[in-house]
Amino acid sequence: MKSIEDKIQELKKERGAIIIAHNYQPDEVQAIADFTGDSLELSQKVAELDEEIVVFCGVHFMAETAAILSPEKTILLPDQFAGCPMADMITADQLRAKKAEHPGAVVICYVNSSAAVKAECDLCCTSSNAMKIVSSVPADKEIIFVPDTHLGHYIQEELGREMIIWDGYCPTHSRIREEDIRREKDEHPEAVIMAHPECPQGIRDMADQLLSTGQMITFASESDHKEYIVATEMGMLYRLRNENPGKKFYSVSERALCPNMKKIDLEKVFWALEDLQHRITVPDEIAKKATRSIEAMLELS
Ligand code: 13P
Ligand code: SF4
Repeated sequence: MKSIEDKIQELKKERGAIIIAHNYQPDEVQAIADFTGDSLELSQKVAELDEEIVVFCGVHFMAETAAILSPEKTILLPDQFAGCPMADMITADQLRAKKAEHPGAVVICYVNSSAAVKAECDLCCTSSNAMKIVSSVPADKEIIFVPDTHLGHYIQEELGREMIIWDGYCPTHSRIREEDIRREKDEHPEAVIMAHPECPQGIRDMADQLLSTGQMITFASESDHKEYIVATEMGMLYRLRNENPGKKFYSVSERALCPNMKKIDLEKVFWALEDLQHRITVPDEIAKKATRSIEAMLELS
């Protein structure tokens, strides 16, 4: 009998499709993906693909961003309920109300936001280019930053630039505790601490490196260090370990697990290809406005 992996590869060929996956996806999904990366790498990748059908193994806002940039392609999210709680912490109405309080402010959204929120923004950013994007705004302009309070405060501290910051957060990164870092550091005193900027301040202060998921991959492969404590979602360990066999990576906590990223499995990838489901589309009106903030980001990146 054929394995599910073989069936996926056959059907993928038949459909002329490609499978891409975020760095937090379950190991078995990353193993069958044609391309794996962080939020920025995935949106750039989709825009340059020849394939018409893209199975997007990630969460809803990521597939939506791909659909905005490539409306002619069929973007399939294998589980339609794979959302991002942080992205749901602000609505377009709430953002419009905040903008009305600060007329003239430049509005920047973290890519972890809905298309309707992106449509209300001037610039989009990801964790790998946030500093560059915020720095591009003239110093005399007010900035509204949504929805991640931790990324927002990290940028504010680094750049010494006051911003009006929304109070959204990632429940997964918020479950990482300072005691987790202390315990791992006691056990592995030589290890470098890599943390994602979505982590709360206490964790950010203890980290040696604050990096997007893609930057963690690059840092670990280029650095001479042999051991790493990884303060982000556990799916990161798959590539880090595979691509650096001579190095050791320790997850900071078993609680660092994103239940939405883990909704996708091999069967759902197969069904996505079989039934061409669940197609993610964005209404024209919203897509047209949201494109501006995403393209402005891609240009600056
Ligand atoms: P990256 O852009 O670093 O991949 O992060 C996406 C994300 O959702 C982190 O929780
Ligand atoms: Fe959203 Fe956090 Fe999951 Fe990333 S890890 S997709 S921010 S809930």
